[in-house]
Amino acid sequence: MAGSVLEIKNLHVEIEGKEILKGVDLTIKGGEFHAIMGPNGTGKSTLASAIMGHPSYEITDGTITLDGEDVLEMEVDERARAGLFLAMQYPSEISGVTTSDFLRSAINARRGEGNEVSLMKFIKGLDEDLDYLEIDKNMATRYLNEGFSGGEKKRNEILQLMQLKPEIAILDEIDSGLDIDALKVVSKGINKMRNENFGCLIITHYQRLLNYITPDYVHVMMRGRVVKSGGPELAKRLEAEGYDWIKEELGIEDETVEQNA
Ligand SMILES: Nc1ncnc2c1ncn2[C@@H]1O[C@H](COP(=O)(O)OP(=O)(O)OP(=O)(O)O)[C@@H](O)[C@H]1O
Ligand SMILES: [Mg+2]
Repeated sequence: MAGSVLEIKNLHVEIEGKEILKGVDLTIKGGEFHAIMGPNGTGKSTLASAIMGHPSYEITDGTITLDGEDVLEMEVDERARAGLFLAMQYPSEISGVTTSDFLRSAINARRGEGNEVSLMKFIKGLDEDLDYLEIDKNMATRYLNEGFSGGEKKRNEILQLMQLKPEIAILDEIDSGLDIDALKVVSKGINKMRNENFGCLIITHYQRLLNYITPDYVHVMMRGRVVKSGGPELAKRLEAEGYDWIKEELGIEDETVEQNA
């Protein structure tokens, strides 16, 4: 079976009556790694939240489909079951639910009733991934993200990614706050996911991450739109020269959504 296709067309999104996304077009297919870069406040996280169905974000125009199915018609949990996954820029702390319980419920929700993973199999898989990501085993018995350091939270997001095996994942600044060793481990986890049934959208500010995870496509977001796309060389040029040359190309002075509402 070939991988899934997430198709975003002319997406417009408002928050509290203010338009943030102004016509995003983006297609991610199984097997492809896409990176989105772009200055602060240009709509990258808004795009991630809109895809996952965050209730504060109102879709005013455009479409999002997964294998032709209307994602905008799905509840948040249905989106997850359909194979979408978001690692948030700021992962939430969930008190009272251990990491291990959270993972098992999430896996079973995806597998569906009557097809739950056995406890033995779950523990074995979890142990393997904890080892792979060099995460202390005690972490699995702690409440999800509660008291986790910034880097531990990011590592835990990748643990969820490896455990849930989504079709399409969006990783929002998965590299922020990671020390050099953690960056390598997290990249190793993401690279392990690479196969024709897995597509990924990596939101990042730094080429550094892309030294470890080579993207097939790099996109630049400004003013709530994808304004430029290219290959890995585009990220390298941004690292070296910043964003001014793109703004010049576009003939704009301000790249944020703020000034262009
Ligand atoms: N819930 C909200 N309420 C009001 N404004 C919001 C909300 N969420 C986002 N915005 C505004 O939308 C714009 C885009 O925000 P977004 O978080 O998508 O940017 P970003 O590209 O992810 O930036 P960064 O690189 O800093 O993470 C910003 O001006 C932000 O203040
Ligand atoms: Mg952001």
